[in-house]
Amino acid sequence: MSTVNHNLNNKPVGFFDSGVGGLSVYSKFKQILPCENTIYFGDLKHLPYGNKSRKELVEYAREILDFYKTKNVKAVVIACNTSSAQAYELVKDYYDFKIYPIIQSCAQVISGMGYKRVGVFATEATVKSGVYTRELKKYRADIEVKEIACPNWVGIVEGVFTGSKEADIKVHMDEMLKFKPDKIILGCTHYPYLLNELKTLAPADMFIDPAEIFVKFIQKDLPQNTDKQNGNEEIFVSANPESFVEHSKIFYNVSKLPQLINLSS
Ligand code: DGL
Repeated sequence: MSTVNHNLNNKPVGFFDSGVGGLSVYSKFKQILPCENTIYFGDLKHLPYGNKSRKELVEYAREILDFYKTKNVKAVVIACNTSSAQAYELVKDYYDFKIYPIIQSCAQVISGMGYKRVGVFATEATVKSGVYTRELKKYRADIEVKEIACPNWVGIVEGVFTGSKEADIKVHMDEMLKFKPDKIILGCTHYPYLLNELKTLAPADMFIDPAEIFVKFIQKDLPQNTDKQNGNEEIFVSANPESFVEHSKIFYNVSKLPQLINLSS
């Protein structure tokens, strides 16, 4: 008798980010959809994405999506806000698998939650794109949005910022609170890890961590693997596998050294 596998949905789901930050989305995904086969790509060669130009970010996204084409994925999750903001629109039509960008997916859900004044903390490149504002207003025209760039917060989470983290966080929070937001979106993969500091300045339930909203959005749309066992996992990086493992600890338990892939850019 033939043993042909008719479950075409066991193809892997790819994820990418500039580094370890996207593991915040990836770990939620593994928790909610444990049977999916997954591949994670950390583009450490080009880290950080937050201060890069659109041209550079589009080039990086293309290279990673081309890599995923060779991996025969059924979908790719852009777990990075900055890449979703600057590259997604310009790359999405070149691939025959589904691409889920974090900002556009979450804005669709958050705009339906009834909030009128929404703040966004994000990287400089994300704020410069204005994508959070555009996407939230697309679904709810009367929503007021205030986006604030926090260029030091990725460094604070990764422990490489040398200034006063309390002072830096307070400056941006003071500016945000003047806007009187109903909710504040933590629009960068690293920022939910500052919640302990943020909640000393505003109630904890004022902050939205998009990771769970995003994974539940994907769950509703993704053709799911019907295999019952836990999915496989592969992790790739474009540089510094040891540093990836070292910095991943707060986000996800990476059990072995990622494989190194050379990107041409
Ligand atoms: N992961 C990126 C984001 O969500 C932030 C880290 C970086 O700047 O590379 O925007």
